Amino acid sequence: MTLVEAPVKTGAKKLYLESYGCAMNFADSEIVAAILAKEGYETTRNSEEASLVLINTCSIRENAEQRVRNRLIHFNGTKKKNPKLMIGILGCMAERLKSQLLEEEKLVDLVVGPDAYRDLPGLIDEISDGRKAVNVLLSREETYAEISPIRLNSNGVTAFISIMRGCDNMCSFCVVPFTRGRERSRDVESIVHEATYLYEQGYREVTLLGQNVDSYRWNISKKGEIADPSKPSVNFAQLLEKVALVNPKLRVRFSTSHPKDMTDDVLHIMAKYDNICKHIHLPVQSGNTDMLQRMNRGYTRGWYQDRIAAIRRIMPTCAISTDIITGFCGETDEEHADTISLMKEVGYEFAYMFKYSERPKTLAERKYEDDIPETLKQSRLEEIIEIQLTNSHRRNRESLGQICEVLVEGHSKKSPDELYGRNSQNAVVVFPKGDQQIGSYANLLITDCTSATLMGQLID
Ligand code: 5AD
Ligand code: SF4
Repeated sequence: MTLVEAPVKTGAKKLYLESYGCAMNFADSEIVAAILAKEGYETTRNSEEASLVLINTCSIRENAEQRVRNRLIHFNGTKKKNPKLMIGILGCMAERLKSQLLEEEKLVDLVVGPDAYRDLPGLIDEISDGRKAVNVLLSREETYAEISPIRLNSNGVTAFISIMRGCDNMCSFCVVPFTRGRERSRDVESIVHEATYLYEQGYREVTLLGQNVDSYRWNISKKGEIADPSKPSVNFAQLLEKVALVNPKLRVRFSTSHPKDMTDDVLHIMAKYDNICKHIHLPVQSGNTDMLQRMNRGYTRGWYQDRIAAIRRIMPTCAISTDIITGFCGETDEEHADTISLMKEVGYEFAYMFKYSERPKTLAERKYEDDIPETLKQSRLEEIIEIQLTNSHRRNRESLGQICEVLVEGHSKKSPDELYGRNSQNAVVVFPKGDQQIGSYANLLITDCTSATLMGQLID
């Protein structure tokens, strides 16, 4: 399979594309930019000069949706001055709120769900005639496999590669299975091809993206059987190896792993290749088994601890990060205390922490009461943030005096004389730039740290 480079028609049509939410949404925006480039749209960072404004939206928590609504109100103000401006929403909110945004609140002209981006040119033609246009159909097959994304806001060094779409896990708190549809994997060849192409373009790191990368399967049925014996089959461990073999100077990361599905095979492949970064994002959500069951996560505290032990055994230097939700339905003080004890036990390098936000249609909305008061959700959140700060700071202090290799990504925000990069464990390291170039690998001695950042000095 070949990747189709979008031939850009020259024209004055300007697209302003704003993205919210997860990395997957940002990767999708790059597909959208490629599809619309073929129609003569150039992206702009200035919404004032755009003829089309698209917002790629997120529904994961209520506040994400609120932010998008505020942006829509803002762009509708611009539309009063420029009535020809077309405004559309893409992504997860499209499916959820199509009629409300289109008909009741009249905030948008165009609503396009995550599996319907190929339809964008036709839908834009429709709205050019003053009509409204919608396509929120979810697909069982769409992976945009052969579309070569146009890299937006790129540093030219690191890029995302989407390897699968949708999710079949049905965690009880999560809206993703409803907004992004059924899980499907992308053609292995197109993934390896995209990684190779990126390397040739000067990129030095790719992050393989999926809601649950461990369930990647190509030519393998859901039950684990080979679908077509005449063709090669590929699981996630094998995919990871294929991408690692593209070039030893191309780093490989991936996100997100699921504790119930992460195999030792994946860990052994990670250990085998230096260019597969030693970092795993392994969302735990809660440290209590009863709570995990209410969350429908498919593992117990003990199972999760076993997966952590496997990572430590197979890759002693691997960093581990996580996601945690506080105040999910019925969370008792004891359950919360179990989350804290697990955090202390694992000593995560990094964690994303959230208050539970009830989402329509989810299992939790139908089955459980959202009964933890906001103030308690908040105080529990603050408590775990405090613990994580201590963990992060301790982990960073452990790096002092060590030497690590970073891939240089850009200039530090604070000074033009400093660069920053990431080490294999995904820690950000800032250092005086010397002769180092963006996109090169630098060996650094770690000399200082905060809870968020390491400071280093170049060594020969
Ligand atoms: N409320 C709060 N956090 C949520 N997440 C997913 N759904 C919700 C929700 N309803 C968090 C989970 C997930 C991350 C991407 O977002 O921790 O791993
Ligand atoms: Fe949501 Fe669970 Fe799927 Fe992640 S694995 S996207 S939390 S349903």
